[in-house]
Amino acid sequence: MPQHTPTPAQWAALEHAARDAARRAYVPYSRFAVGAAILDAQGQIYPGCNVENASYGLANCAERTAIYSARVLHDLQEIVAVCVYTPTATPTSPCGACRQVLNEFGPGMLVRCICDGSERIDTTLDVLLPHAFGPKNLSDAVSPT
Ligand code: THU
Repeated sequence: MPQHTPTPAQWAALEHAARDAARRAYVPYSRFAVGAAILDAQGQIYPGCNVENASYGLANCAERTAIYSARVLHDLQEIVAVCVYTPTATPTSPCGACRQVLNEFGPGMLVRCICDGSERIDTTLDVLLPHAFGPKNLSDAVSPT
């Protein structure tokens, strides 16, 4: 059944999945491991990690890895919440590109960023990406006069 507010158990599972995914980060260049986990409207959790490349600009962030793999493997439709983990003293929030890609699948999603310190960020995507560009902008378009 679709649901939109994660239970405490789902938050715990999301956090665990994000921490676990960071262990599979491929980060020989930055050494900055990131793990992410997304919760969909059916209650399923999908992990992702960052995957870097010798052509540096081709690095794929953890959040986008989670989305793309969940889409192709599980037909991801709607994201309810995302958790981002970094093994750092302070939490890391999603980069601008990931905010945009997350927006496509859940503009109102909850965002939790955790780390190895006690600090955490609990926010929403619409706070991180105000006035977002999304599918509606395209459907509203008309030909220039
Ligand atoms: N990175 C992520 O995986 N997610 C973010 O939201 C921020 C940045 C990765 C990309 C790159 O592999 C490393 O962190 C350093 O920028």
